[in-house]
Amino acid sequence: MTRPDPVASSAPAPATAAPVTVTATTTAAAPASPTAARPRIAARKVRFDFAAVPRHWFGGSKVATHLANGVNMLFPQGERFFVRSVNHFLDRIDDPELVAQARGFFGQEGKHASAHDDYNDMLRAQGYQIDRFLAAYAWWGREVTERIMPPELRLATTAAAEHFTAIMAENAFKKQILAAAHPTMKSLLQWHAAEEIEHKSVAFDVLQRVNPSYALRLAGMVVATVQLSSWWMLGTLTLLRQERLSLAELRAERDGIRATRPDDEGIARRVFLRGIREYLRRDFHPADNDNFHLAELLLRDSGVVAASA
Ligand SMILES: [Fe+2]
Ligand SMILES: [Fe+2]
Repeated sequence: MTRPDPVASSAPAPATAAPVTVTATTTAAAPASPTAARPRIAARKVRFDFAAVPRHWFGGSKVATHLANGVNMLFPQGERFFVRSVNHFLDRIDDPELVAQARGFFGQEGKHASAHDDYNDMLRAQGYQIDRFLAAYAWWGREVTERIMPPELRLATTAAAEHFTAIMAENAFKKQILAAAHPTMKSLLQWHAAEEIEHKSVAFDVLQRVNPSYALRLAGMVVATVQLSSWWMLGTLTLLRQERLSLAELRAERDGIRATRPDDEGIARRVFLRGIREYLRRDFHPADNDNFHLAELLLRDSGVVAASA
């Protein structure tokens, strides 16, 4: 059995280039950052052909593949929620540069949601039953998150979730998390990661303009942490259950991942603990971590920039 190896270049991965097409780009001006020069926010119209992606596209590992599928399944609904949360307050933002940034953010998240709709169609075509899970996730979002939570808390939840996605995006480059992924999936996730870095400050900046309360910011972090970790785990289990792995096979998968990634801290530390620790700082701002240059590097490696050029 092959194992995911996000570090070694010898990790099993198909040799064919990812089919990527870029048909247009729209941009929005970037406002001045408190600590770093931010890139323009660009909504790139990218399409991915998932036809050649195998079921276990992450180095042949079922566990690694479904850990990735588990969170990616959430994106279409999650990112449309992010857009609604920010858009609710757009008429209260009197900074035209931030409004332009927000519109760029809407464009990027809209394209991400659409690309991840296609990703979910790929999972269906591969034979996975995901619609009951996605219906439950949609019900929760509609009846709990959007009906019970006030708009400011929804915005704070979005700002915190965007901090987590920015961390995952940085890890995609710095920790080479995607090295063993199929080229199409790697290209999709690198494009998405690049744009998450580009727009990582937008929801936070809108929240600061709407209500700069530290308590509200932390409440959003609590909601984002509980919801993202819970639904990610449920999504992963929904898919893994369909593999009907024996306990011995599960242990073999776990040991294989540990063997190929001995220094990995795991998702809980790498994403959640780091994100919470940073976010607790009273003077935290997403742009304090000046990693905007990684967006260009991720895009270049994804093939999207070459296709655009
Ligand atoms: Fe996104
Ligand atoms: Fe985002």
